[in-house]
Amino acid sequence: MTNTRTNDLPPLKRSDFAPDFRWGCSTSSYQIEGAVHADGRGESIWDRFCATPGRIRDGSSGAVACDHYHRWPQDLDMAASLGTNAYRFSIAWPRIFPSGRGRVPNQKGLDFYARLVDGMLERGLEPWVTLYHWDLPQALQEQGGWVDRDTVAAFVEYTDVVSRHLGDRVKHWITHNEPWCTAFIGNYEGAHAPGLKDFRTALQVCHNVMVSHGLAIPVIRRNVADAKVGAALSLHPLYPASASAQDVAATLRHDGLRNRWFLDPLHGRGYPADVWNILGDKAPVVQDGDLQIIATPTDFLGVNYYFPEVVADAPGQGVMATRVVDSPNVERTAFGWEVSPDGMVALLSRVATDYQPAVIYLTENGSSYEDVVSSNGEIDDGERRRYLERHLLALREIVAKGIPVKGYFAWSLLDNFEWAEGYLRRFGLTHVDFDTQQRRLKLSGKWYRSFLKGEL
Ligand code: FCB
Repeated sequence: MTNTRTNDLPPLKRSDFAPDFRWGCSTSSYQIEGAVHADGRGESIWDRFCATPGRIRDGSSGAVACDHYHRWPQDLDMAASLGTNAYRFSIAWPRIFPSGRGRVPNQKGLDFYARLVDGMLERGLEPWVTLYHWDLPQALQEQGGWVDRDTVAAFVEYTDVVSRHLGDRVKHWITHNEPWCTAFIGNYEGAHAPGLKDFRTALQVCHNVMVSHGLAIPVIRRNVADAKVGAALSLHPLYPASASAQDVAATLRHDGLRNRWFLDPLHGRGYPADVWNILGDKAPVVQDGDLQIIATPTDFLGVNYYFPEVVADAPGQGVMATRVVDSPNVERTAFGWEVSPDGMVALLSRVATDYQPAVIYLTENGSSYEDVVSSNGEIDDGERRRYLERHLLALREIVAKGIPVKGYFAWSLLDNFEWAEGYLRRFGLTHVDFDTQQRRLKLSGKWYRSFLKGEL
């Protein structure tokens, strides 16, 4: 886990990567759009969650966020000015079906995304849609949310409408962003909407989300000629806290739920037996055919990489009896996430060896620091710039190993609403002044631009 990579490596160049390599930024609807009442949008579980005192660290919400709903032309200009050729964004389900489902979608919501996609195409940005980046219609939550199988059917209907509407222009489709977070942060840790704390519920949510992923794939393929479909998983390289047999076994268990719980069924192997056996009566209800549905072939695997985890045995702690520990003496971002480009190499090597996906995209990677606007208006985020550079050096190493990574999307184009952290954590290549909505490209964004334009 040492990060020894230094600048005495050959300089990084865009031409180190294939000409058709996808370079982009990622965003998500609730984190940037604001305009939560505009044009008939319905309530999402995040609107409700933010309105509950104590849920968001600074008491804020995504009600205004970056006001991207109104300022999107400027934001797409910024993305294009960096020299990116792709842009990943998500659709707010409550803009399409304000109460989750229905016979008639909300035309104004569909029109917004049509304008947005046209705006991308006009600027040479290939649109990459994420269908579910956590903003479930609140009305569906009230009927049970993802734990209820009806939500799976509702997701498929919503997918059908969106893919029919945008499929002539959008070829890259991500069904779900980070099902682990949807399931476990939202329903077990309770730190994300809907804020539940029940392990059994989280496991059923997880299963239903995965089934909805599989059922959405043929729908997208039916509606979109030449569609490329996948899911974006949050994956972590894991290391035992010590060489003890207990910590090593705990790390394997943790890996079972964090990584293999998704990777195995997606690749036709069913749920990992070691974890399943531990779950006992907490295991999800799996209907006949579900595992085949989850294993529906995809075109790519999306990986969101942020940090490694160090794991210790923790008897009595939850069903899994594991604990993530803070390893001392490691480099961390201001958010406390370990900085480890080597972890990215280890993770992708492992995924490639164990699962052989034909194509991998790094659908998110980025860092949060406490950016300060200096008196001359510059944001000198040298740490984020270095983070980006070191991860792109790692990416070059990954590609050189023959691992089929075909694209990289930086999280994020803009500072935005960082979920339970509100506006306290900035991940943007572009600084947003949330009082004035002024955007300013940070040093990191300028560096990404120089790299992409071959000016480093
Ligand atoms: C990921 C989420 C994304 C953002 C980054 C920092 O887990 O997908 O929305 O919050 O973390």
